[in-house]
Amino acid sequence: MAQTFEEISPADFFYRNRDIAGFTNPTRAIFTAIRELVENSLDAAEQIGVPPDIYVRLTLEGKTTHGTEIYKLRIEDNGSGIPPRYIPAAFGQVLFGSKYKLKQMRGTFGLGGTMAILYGQITTHRPAYVVSSTGGARIFMYRLMIDIQRNRPIILEKRTMLNKTGWRGTIVEFSLEGDYFRAMPKILEYFKQTAVMNPYANLTFVDPRGRLYIFRRVTTRMPPPPKETKPHPYGIDVELLQRLIQITDCKNMLDFLKKHFHRIGDNIARKFLEFAEIDFLKDPKKLTHDEIVHLARAMKSFPDFLPPDASCLSPLGEELLRAGILKELKPEFIAVCQRKPSTYAGHPFIVEVAVAYGGEIPRKNDFILYRFANRIPLLYDEASDVSFKVIHSINWRRYRVTPDMPIAILVHICSTKIPYKTVGKEFIADRPEVKKEILNGIREVARQLQRYLSKREYAERQRRRLNIFAKYLPKIAEFSTKLAGMEQPPDINGLLRSVEKLGLES
Ligand SMILES: Nc1ncnc2c1ncn2[C@@H]1O[C@H](COP(=O)(O)OP(=O)(O)OP(=O)(O)O)[C@@H](O)[C@H]1O
Ligand SMILES: [Mg+2]
Repeated sequence: MAQTFEEISPADFFYRNRDIAGFTNPTRAIFTAIRELVENSLDAAEQIGVPPDIYVRLTLEGKTTHGTEIYKLRIEDNGSGIPPRYIPAAFGQVLFGSKYKLKQMRGTFGLGGTMAILYGQITTHRPAYVVSSTGGARIFMYRLMIDIQRNRPIILEKRTMLNKTGWRGTIVEFSLEGDYFRAMPKILEYFKQTAVMNPYANLTFVDPRGRLYIFRRVTTRMPPPPKETKPHPYGIDVELLQRLIQITDCKNMLDFLKKHFHRIGDNIARKFLEFAEIDFLKDPKKLTHDEIVHLARAMKSFPDFLPPDASCLSPLGEELLRAGILKELKPEFIAVCQRKPSTYAGHPFIVEVAVAYGGEIPRKNDFILYRFANRIPLLYDEASDVSFKVIHSINWRRYRVTPDMPIAILVHICSTKIPYKTVGKEFIADRPEVKKEILNGIREVARQLQRYLSKREYAERQRRRLNIFAKYLPKIAEFSTKLAGMEQPPDINGLLRSVEKLGLES
């Protein structure tokens, strides 16, 4: 029989392979849907520098014939809003988005929110509602479905309303199949960890039982927003070079390098062109295919490019990290460490690490690990993650720490390109450069924890010693009074106080 060939659209591809975007089963799907929409809302608020106010409600709508439930999910935010002409594609077209830029954002693929809506559509056959305003005179409402085969939105209804209150933000509402009760622990954990990483956000979640979970902000200070950056020469490939050559208006190689690449100034551009044996004045548009391949190879092997700077990144910072941990985990002790910017394959990244001890941190048989990437909590596939591997490669006895102590370790990686292993954003690949930074960060906070623990142990020993003094000294005084044949025992309070003082000073 003859083979038949056909082409499928990106929406069709993700429809057939929804596992790779995290929509594996009704439990996982409801978790992923909530997460993707919350991340979009957080991005939208941070983008305009406003502390996020996010409201999420999940209500039960009915049962399916195969034992799972149908829920309605509604998310409201006070973010940027979406210009009306982009609303249908933003939610009705896979691989369409505003975040394909070189700066740190939670969203990267143009997939997450749309996949949640696509999953809702294929499991309930109902449309999605999107209401949004950028704060102008009007509010726009769309009722949408996705034409999966063509990867295009279908607009069922569009309405425009007057924006009398000057509201700005986005509301998304749609139905989906799910299993909330199985997903509940992960969903609540997701909100809690999001609150740790975003201490400047208000998060409200109303679950299908009508329970209200509120995570209030403790600060309105937000980390400085990331700046958009240009590609770094070490991360370049032939395809990207060709695209840059196509769009450039530079007439010679010297200007081309200076204009389109990150951290190439006149001096380095000249040195590089000499190294690559390319004429300074050559018109980039006249490069042959072989010359472009040669240029890409030379860029990777030239040793003197400056490392990328980190202005395109937006780590949380030690102070906010501490505030978030204190607010949600309520430990007795916290040590935080932000590593210097580093790079892998031309992508800048920063690792932040914290360790929290005691207080309300529970004791388990292993350390509790909180993983974050661009401020997104990662809750699945822990054992495959680079941080997990690093933690288990450390000899903790050196720090006088054992895994059964009440210890939580937090690792945050931010980068313009997180080395995720899947588009579901679950775990991070072990890149040696990333691994090294995590290891050094953990060592640093582990040393601080060790110092704290030994101080605490010392103070404890002193306290016990003083207790013994306090217990026996009166008896000794009484006894020696009798031995000496005196009536009145000496006043020992002064002596006790001075021992106490000595103990505290040493
Ligand atoms: N709440 C929102 N407020 C403003 N814009 C939004 C909101 N939700 C989605 N968008 C817009 O819709 C686009 C598509 O969202 P979607 O979640 O599908 O992809 P993404 O966030 O770009 O990438 P990722 O797949 O990594 O989530 C976004 O890039 C953004 O421009
Ligand atoms: Mg998204």
